[in-house]
Amino acid sequence: MKVISVVGARPQFVKVALVVKELAERGIEAPIVHTGQHYDYEMSALFFKELEIPEPVVNLNVGSGTHAEQTSKMLLGLEKILLRERPHAIIVYGDTNSTLAGALSAAKLNITICHVEAGLRSYNRKMPEEINRIVSDHLSDVLFAPTRHALEILKREGLGDKAHMVGDVMYDVLLRYMDMSMSSTVVEKMGLEPKKYYLATVHRAENTDDPKRLSDIISALSALDLPVIFPAHPRTKKRMEEYGIKMDGSIRLVSPMSYLEFITLLRYAAKVLTDSGGVQKEAYVLGVPCITLRDETEWVETVEDGWNILVGASRDRIITAVAKFSPKGERKKHYGDGYAHKRIADVVEGL
Ligand code: UD1
Repeated sequence: MKVISVVGARPQFVKVALVVKELAERGIEAPIVHTGQHYDYEMSALFFKELEIPEPVVNLNVGSGTHAEQTSKMLLGLEKILLRERPHAIIVYGDTNSTLAGALSAAKLNITICHVEAGLRSYNRKMPEEINRIVSDHLSDVLFAPTRHALEILKREGLGDKAHMVGDVMYDVLLRYMDMSMSSTVVEKMGLEPKKYYLATVHRAENTDDPKRLSDIISALSALDLPVIFPAHPRTKKRMEEYGIKMDGSIRLVSPMSYLEFITLLRYAAKVLTDSGGVQKEAYVLGVPCITLRDETEWVETVEDGWNILVGASRDRIITAVAKFSPKGERKKHYGDGYAHKRIADVVEGL
């Protein structure tokens, strides 16, 4: 049995890591096809190395471009590979253009599609990820929901019959690497003291491609009372230069980090400010107050339990949240038991 995983962007490397290892242990051929959406060393190869992910059998090297350019190059490349390899099924992950291209190319060739992290919705169609999720979920034959909330959404959209509530594969990875992160000395190496710095990430198009939102966010980060470690996504760095946005005060701009370095810095941060989906969940699991630089979230349970607050890109709301937001409530096991990857493999084995 051969099951191809299609990945391309940084969070997908985390999601694929344990799934392909589990499939291989069960004797299933589980090659990875990399679309090349992310190509910088720190955005791609570093993750394969650190998470010991098998090398991709093919890299389509599509690189950057408009949505149509990027997705169409992926479709052309993937169709050739799927025709040649004739897998039993393909697995797509999350909500990037690589997810959409994987699902669409397999659907046209009548290849079974499994979607890991199905059922997420922000109900904001201006986000490219929302379009990618809706299309991928509705094209898929097997849907792996990470939470009860995601499962309910799939049922509401008439997709309940195809859905399996398996838990969250990013949580599985976090549990396994959390202890290793304890020994990582990144906090000391950066001259920081635990709980005496903030961590910030910004990469969503709605924030980076709007000069007002981006400059308000950077201005808020610059005004905070503790150092702000800011591992900048290449898109964010590029836009800051284009818009002439200067940073000063508390911000320390650093290169994108490895997974272990990042989760260690997150674990010891006083608070995190982010527009990433994965980081909101990781902060919840690690008990770090999260200030989300968006107007909505897919990971609603983190907000409902009081550990995450949505502040958009308003300078004042960001600064006030950093000063006042202080969660105390209980954190629950929304993301499963650390074995989502095994449940996924159980279902895939039976296809
Ligand atoms: C993509 C996903 C997003 C995901 C994110 C994780 C889509 C629509 N978006 O956004 O859902 O959360 O990945 O990071 O698929 N660039 C580099 N080097 C790289 C990669 C990107 O310099 O290795 C720069 C390029 O200038 C590129 C820009 O970043 O134009 C944006 O990259 P792209 O892959 O289009 O989207 P992301 O913003 O990374």
